[in-house]
Amino acid sequence: MAFDIDMIKGVYTKMADRVDKARGIVGKPLTLSEKILYSHLWDGTPDKAFTRGKDYVDFAPDRIACQDATAQMALLQFMQAGKDNVAVPTTVHCDHLIQAKDGASTDLKHANDVSSEVFKFLESVSNKYGIGFWKPGAGIIHQVVLENYAFPGGMMIGTDSHTVNAGGLGMVAIGVGGADAVDVMAGMAWELKFPKLIGVKLTGKLSGWTAPKDVILKVAEILTVKGGTGAIVEYFGEGATSMSCTGKGTICNMGAEIGATTSTFGYDESMERYLRATEREDVADAANAVKSYLTADPEVYADPETYFDEVIEIDLSVLTPLLNGPFTPDLSTPVGASMTEKAKANDWPLKVEWGLIGSCTNSSYEDLSRASSIAQQALDKNLKTKADFGINPGSEKVRYTTERDGILEIFEKLDAKIFTNACGPCIGQWARYSDPKNAPKNSIIHSFNRNFAKRADGNPNTHAFVASPEMVAAIAIAGRLDFNPMTDKLINEDGEEVMFDEPTGWELPPKGFEVKDNGYLAPDEDGSGVVVSVSPDSERLQLLEPFTPLGDSITGAKLLIKAFGKCTTDHISMAGPWLRFRGHLDNISNNCLIGAVNAYNKKTNFVKNQLTGDYAGVPDTAREYKAAGIKSIVVGDHNYGEGSSREHAAMEPRHLGVAAVLVKSFARIHETNLKKQGMLGLTFDNEADYDLIQEDDTINFLDLNEFAPDKPLSIEFVHADGSKDVVVANHTYNAAQIAWYKEGSALNLIKKENAK
Ligand code: F3S
Repeated sequence: MAFDIDMIKGVYTKMADRVDKARGIVGKPLTLSEKILYSHLWDGTPDKAFTRGKDYVDFAPDRIACQDATAQMALLQFMQAGKDNVAVPTTVHCDHLIQAKDGASTDLKHANDVSSEVFKFLESVSNKYGIGFWKPGAGIIHQVVLENYAFPGGMMIGTDSHTVNAGGLGMVAIGVGGADAVDVMAGMAWELKFPKLIGVKLTGKLSGWTAPKDVILKVAEILTVKGGTGAIVEYFGEGATSMSCTGKGTICNMGAEIGATTSTFGYDESMERYLRATEREDVADAANAVKSYLTADPEVYADPETYFDEVIEIDLSVLTPLLNGPFTPDLSTPVGASMTEKAKANDWPLKVEWGLIGSCTNSSYEDLSRASSIAQQALDKNLKTKADFGINPGSEKVRYTTERDGILEIFEKLDAKIFTNACGPCIGQWARYSDPKNAPKNSIIHSFNRNFAKRADGNPNTHAFVASPEMVAAIAIAGRLDFNPMTDKLINEDGEEVMFDEPTGWELPPKGFEVKDNGYLAPDEDGSGVVVSVSPDSERLQLLEPFTPLGDSITGAKLLIKAFGKCTTDHISMAGPWLRFRGHLDNISNNCLIGAVNAYNKKTNFVKNQLTGDYAGVPDTAREYKAAGIKSIVVGDHNYGEGSSREHAAMEPRHLGVAAVLVKSFARIHETNLKKQGMLGLTFDNEADYDLIQEDDTINFLDLNEFAPDKPLSIEFVHADGSKDVVVANHTYNAAQIAWYKEGSALNLIKKENAK
């Protein structure tokens, strides 16, 4: 990976100059987060200070990572950009589309059968455009990134919320939608609102049963699931430096559960040890040479209240293990007796049926070795395991090494199922039930990050509790949610009372990491000859056609739907079974706006087709307008498109002929996504005009030929009785974004510029 070290050295070379300039401009010592942000400005050397939580800033990330579910549409779009290669080092990781059922070998084979078309597509596109490809079974994206690509002081984006895991190795790593990733792959800037900063001071040291997982479970309890929104969480203090690098990764990973933009830690010896153990001596040496730039200025940590927007302090010496859940990751209960009362009061089943260890959050060598020390005690003390065990190693490197070191064998002796190195139960890819919707009420415990209803097994009655891997092991063996391994005894098969000793383990493998085939496929040096083939009969993949520009005259358009109340990206493009069609725009468009409530009848997916006078589903109605050469528009309420950055929510209406979305207000990311797809995203100048729009309206844009920055548009709504209302619509298009509209999409423009 020589390419990487050259890139990393390039980042470090510029860092000193940029950070020193930024410090001067900001006029005070800098946090680590600010150092990384200011050294990754798209425009290069900083020339102005940005206001946290306010200014939108263009950045130049160093890397991109995509997982197999989100990569499909991202790569299909990238293919539209007319580029020979990705502009920024990029990797694709096949980890989401592998179901856990019988164990790794059978499950992986099954996944390769049912999703071979998707995997082959991702592999060939990667090969063609210079993208590193990690095969199914190679590992979970964030563990693989931590082992191979993350580096202190770097900035990366990834098409998965838990991209933030790489903060464990001192990065600013942020989860984004496919459209953002495509921009950066195509050589464009990436825009982010300059985040606020939350400092978390960790004093003391973890010991005994308390693990890094408990730190983030505690932070989630303090900040709740929304407390980190729009902020980078920066951890520091002796407690931070005393933790392993993968433990830091666990903490950063679950920053996604408090809504944080990302989380990070300053470069320290644990990171250096991890870099060297994962054969990146060169990165460690390069980082050592710029150490002072890879952590905050000393004044910051000495007086954090002055430099952070919010500061939290946690004493690790008194922190006790926690169980968070069910159904939300911020509901904390200390391990032990308080769970007995709480479970009774809330009617949570105390019996634990499964203990799951793994996911991108907790599947490192250290995690598995500490959990196995508890499993080994069960064997030594003749304890019978009460719950079933499932293990998902984080990567083939971790799996191979833990197998070599006898760690997996310990779990196997407890009849654990060793699942594929993949997400599995963490993303609902767990064939636990044949009919999950009608499955019984039960409790499970896992070391994952998310535990909302149905997440693991599709059963709305599964109560999932989140804990450290070692605590998962102890509670699964005991089979009770309120078991406290620090105080409680268990009766073994000989009828004797026994207790667990504290967990032990290795931060890193004493004999080093080892792997035979890590599952990586490097792209061809010259991929120009690689043919990417997609069957025209495929129901999961469809090559994209460039969108046709909507033009400067839109008249005779029809109202498709006036959405009432909340209309999130889930209402616009539902997830669940539709995920299967993420790579097929026409098929997934059959979910377009089917969750939105029609303002005229308060029903979902039931709108008036003005051509027939009948009521029908939204996608079918849109298709009829499109077939008749009629454009349509969508009207919406406040914060339209909130939720995720899913680009399908903009691409689907565009594909179905929607020209404009006119709302009271937008979620900003969705508004930008509409712009990127060459559509009109507009807001009512007078919110009350929303009430003027009628079900049978025909719509004429009166001055679209004068579309310009800061100039509102006038739209005429002709009602069924012939009366008219003219509505003033505001927009936030700048000149570049108007050019996207005129070309039909941002990608069309990139392609055109490329061709010059
Ligand atoms: Fe996969 Fe679950 Fe992480 S879905 S990427 S293991 S959050």
